[in-house]
Amino acid sequence: MSKHNIENDFKTGYTFDDVLLIPQRSSISSRKDTNLQSNLTKNIKLNIPIVSANMDTVTESSMAIKIASLGGIGIIHRFMTIEEQISEVLSVKRSEGIVIEQPVTINQDGNVGQIKELMSLHKIGGILVKDNSNKLLGIVTKRDLFFEYEDSKSVQDVMTKDLITAPEGTSLDDAKKIFINNKIEKLPIVNSSNELVGLITSKDIYKRDKFPISSKDDKGRLMVGAAIGVRQEDIERAVKLTEAGADTIVIDIAHGHSDHTINMLSKIKEKIGKADIIVGNVATGEGTKDLIEAGADAVKVGVGSGSICITRIVTGAGVPQLTAILDCVSIANEYKIPIIADGGIRNSGDITKAIAAGASTVMIGSMLAGTDESPGVIVSRPNGRYKMTRGMASLGAAVDRSIKETKSMDEEEMLEYVPEGVEALVQYRGQASEVIGKLVGGLRSGLSYCNSKNIDELQKNSKFIRITGAGKAESGAHDVLVD
Ligand code: XMP
Repeated sequence: MSKHNIENDFKTGYTFDDVLLIPQRSSISSRKDTNLQSNLTKNIKLNIPIVSANMDTVTESSMAIKIASLGGIGIIHRFMTIEEQISEVLSVKRSEGIVIEQPVTINQDGNVGQIKELMSLHKIGGILVKDNSNKLLGIVTKRDLFFEYEDSKSVQDVMTKDLITAPEGTSLDDAKKIFINNKIEKLPIVNSSNELVGLITSKDIYKRDKFPISSKDDKGRLMVGAAIGVRQEDIERAVKLTEAGADTIVIDIAHGHSDHTINMLSKIKEKIGKADIIVGNVATGEGTKDLIEAGADAVKVGVGSGSICITRIVTGAGVPQLTAILDCVSIANEYKIPIIADGGIRNSGDITKAIAAGASTVMIGSMLAGTDESPGVIVSRPNGRYKMTRGMASLGAAVDRSIKETKSMDEEEMLEYVPEGVEALVQYRGQASEVIGKLVGGLRSGLSYCNSKNIDELQKNSKFIRITGAGKAESGAHDVLVD
């Protein structure tokens, strides 16, 4: 006789389409009055609760820069060398720093050819000139080089010497006034001995004003996360990534509730010091508890929920995502640790439901894979434009990984590999900001239907109703020809 009894032992697992949020009398008169701030981890707060997935068809530096500028965060995937991943993190960190701590400089003995090289290498339009004792002498901008065809000409013959500088500690508002009053674009910061200690650019102040909600670290740089695995060398990867400025490390494993993950988590936590660690994936309260007790600063939830996942089909294991979120949240709340709902988000309504169920943020893969900022090219088909996406446990991803590690898979290895993900096309969706804008707008409306000004209130006020197949059919456009 089986030890299982379907009547007594089996609980029902639900997902987003099984429920709706019940509309409530609302005091919210405009979506703009809602606040979407939420914790990504114990110590990191975001202005919108959206995280781009650590997948090689979703998040490298372009996506991470865009999503952080919109108030969320991107997690750079781990399927590249440590050096490549560090360079992706640095690209995000250098993309927008209010005070650039180590501006590119040239020595007074340099020449025009070297300046041109530096400008093209770093994609910048101005280079500061220092003397042999590190004191600031001048600046050379593209304008100074317009008619300079002689590469051997000395830096000192082309630089502008009358520099406007500001002392250490100058506030950003004061820097803005200096830009406006003097019609300059670059403001070097110097110490009392006239040594260069930083640079503020008008472009970065403009970006700060244009994207006031962007996710910034304490140095004013955009925030970014980076994923690692659980191999021994991932300890070194985690250390180097945090040294490069990654704000959070994501330990990314399909079945995160394992002894090995828990052991690695403790070791990595010890080594990297300050940065918060996100760990996953799990789908149960027990998994959440074990990871939190081993030191997780946020837990990523979702087993088999992703659009490109076939884990549930291949292994028979998984938990429908809404039930997984509810179970994990009920434990995580006891420890005040945030839950990231990872996978299966197909529209803004799913985000509202995941967050109403208690998740603090959602991680999104395929909805962002079709945008300009994701890696990969647009492919044209007779019926439209698409981009490629793939599960990180798909055969294609595994083959590419082994090629990168210079030990390409032979036929036997390919036959033995059991994929838990698929390769697929997703519709091309234009800029990520358009997709995020729609998702955020829908979430704000969702808050208003639940009479909630913010995420905390949504989690307290919301009420779910279970629906039938007929209710679900009624929920989308129906009985009309959609153009
Ligand atoms: P969405 O639905 O947003 O899901 O595309 C993204 C999430 O899917 C997970 N993921 C996988 N899961 N096999 C799986 O079972 C895979 O090959 C795979 N690749 C990604 C991952 O959690 C991601 O954030």
